[in-house]
Amino acid sequence: MEKIVIIGEEPLQGTIEISGSKNASLPLMAASILTDETVVLKNIPNLADIHTMASVLESLGVNCNKSDLINKNIIQLNYQGSDKALAEYDLVRKMRASILVLGPLLARKRKATVSMPGGCAIGARPVNIHVDALAKLGGEFNLEKGYIKCEAKSGLKGAKIELPMISVGATENIIMAASLAKGETEISNIATEPEIIDLIDCLKSMGAQIEVQSDRKVLIQGVESLNGTTHSVIPDRIEAGTYIIAGLITKGELQIKNVNFDHIANLLSVFENLELNITRENNNLIVKESSVSKNISLDTKEYPGFPTDLQAQIMVLLSLSKNASTIRENIFENRFMHVPELNRMGADININGSQATINPCNGFSGAQVMATDLRASVSLVLASLIAKGETTINRVYHLDRGYENLENKLAGCGANIKRIQ
Ligand code: UD1
Repeated sequence: MEKIVIIGEEPLQGTIEISGSKNASLPLMAASILTDETVVLKNIPNLADIHTMASVLESLGVNCNKSDLINKNIIQLNYQGSDKALAEYDLVRKMRASILVLGPLLARKRKATVSMPGGCAIGARPVNIHVDALAKLGGEFNLEKGYIKCEAKSGLKGAKIELPMISVGATENIIMAASLAKGETEISNIATEPEIIDLIDCLKSMGAQIEVQSDRKVLIQGVESLNGTTHSVIPDRIEAGTYIIAGLITKGELQIKNVNFDHIANLLSVFENLELNITRENNNLIVKESSVSKNISLDTKEYPGFPTDLQAQIMVLLSLSKNASTIRENIFENRFMHVPELNRMGADININGSQATINPCNGFSGAQVMATDLRASVSLVLASLIAKGETTINRVYHLDRGYENLENKLAGCGANIKRIQ
């Protein structure tokens, strides 16, 4: 199994270019099922999750041309309308976001069978909201042998749907399905993450009629068919936030390129409040080592709140503060698995239910640590960059799911980081 070895305390100096958003790319790829024409996606990151989604789509009859993925970050998808509407356990278990094919399949094939994604390291993560909302559009659901079987014999029909809680994936699934449903669909209590707006922009360029209203509502007039398109994926705001934190905790100066400031406004306001060294230069950010003296209380929340996907990373920064801060995790019930590992490296973080108290620590020191999920693993990378001595991070396949060229990006700025077998 591969490991990443980092020798800490090297200054980071140079430029890091942010890749396309993983979480935006996955639903955009699933949207290719909605049309017979080719969907060309640009700025797609070359990541394990993208390959998993491509395999899921290929198994459903989508021709995925990945020949330009590594060099040009382009993928071309063409749904060939196969009779197969089954996403198998072996593929779905690798990535929960495979559930995003459910809505598009139901809209196109009037039937879909998708393996239940099951729980994952960060919590139970059920799919009841996806299923209940698609049922309102006319889908009839059964659970058989671990598979969600769904049929809409006379096609999907527009409906008024209020999501019982805000869910990114469910919002995406329902919007895709409703784009081809008969009549009008009104969905309220939707998630409004930039990745969802990116999906809507792409669907509109395919001919969908979607109007995002204020107050977490979206109105969709179903159309008969959608056309192909060429769409460029938004930059990854979570990757951007991660490298900004890398720049704040290490010596040197990082230029972070290809950032959408609006998408990370919540994060920038936290850093502004902490009076950290970040300046904007055209479309880039210049980040320098900063000492944290203030304390803060953060709550992870749906967008535009502070993202749960940056909670682990900001803990590393807050550990260096002179004062204790708190973070309440409101989205997932089991998302502090990085804490024992960070504590083994010298952090002083206590967990009480959904709240973590991050006490000041005397810096980090290298250790053997275990990556448990995508964002947890990158928090260990951040701690390793400033740790005394050598850190070995095991189970790095989590990182490969979400951080394109991580070692090259960091090594290019002077980090002592390598991957070993
Ligand atoms: C997406 C992101 C993930 C991010 C999360 C929250 C992708 C591919 N993944 O995940 O990186 O951490 O949003 O910002 O975009 N829930 C239910 N029933 C459902 C669906 C969700 O109870 O049917 C719960 C979940 O268990 C969780 C909460 O709702 O506690 C939010 O989950 P959701 O927004 O759906 O996250 P994902 O779309 O899975």
